[in-house]
Amino acid sequence: MAKALVVYATITGNNEDVADIITDALEDLGVEVEETEMTMADPADFNDVDICVICPYTYDEGALPEEGLDFYEDLQEEDLTGKVFGVAGSGDTFYGDDFCVAVDKFGEALAKTGATKGSENVRVNLAPDEEDVEKLDQFAKELVEKAGN
Ligand SMILES: Cc1cc2nc3c(=O)[nH]c(=O)nc-3n(C[C@H](O)[C@H](O)[C@H](O)COP(=O)(O)O)c2cc1C
Repeated sequence: MAKALVVYATITGNNEDVADIITDALEDLGVEVEETEMTMADPADFNDVDICVICPYTYDEGALPEEGLDFYEDLQEEDLTGKVFGVAGSGDTFYGDDFCVAVDKFGEALAKTGATKGSENVRVNLAPDEEDVEKLDQFAKELVEKAGN
């Protein structure tokens, strides 16, 4: 059975919702999932799983989650060759070009680890709606398919 670790950072709960939706979708696909808040996670934990998922919020004009800066730095030191990764997060389209910048930054950091991108990044505006749930279900499906190859 494939294993996944879903790490999220949240202030008001939207990214925890995104992480919950992905976790449920992966579990429905038969994956054993651990979901962890970013300050409680270590990037080295990704070594124990097949699928690595990060759900970060974006703050202050494109800034990464403050409490996730250590995680972000340490992540780039990991060698996650052979793993599959995906990044999905909630921001606010009000911020224009800075919309969900942290999603892209974590995607770039994960790509540096040698892990394989299993799905395109998913950007959610504020709380996930029905359409977002469909996108996140599809995201989970693509990650599982990629991990199976
Ligand atoms: C002060 C402040 C700055 C923000 N800056 C951005 C930003 O640059 N880009 C973005 O996409 N969202 C930005 N947001 C919106 C949050 O990312 C958005 O509300 C998100 O859903 C919060 O996720 P959370 O509920 O998991 O904390 C900002 C919100 C606040 C309060």
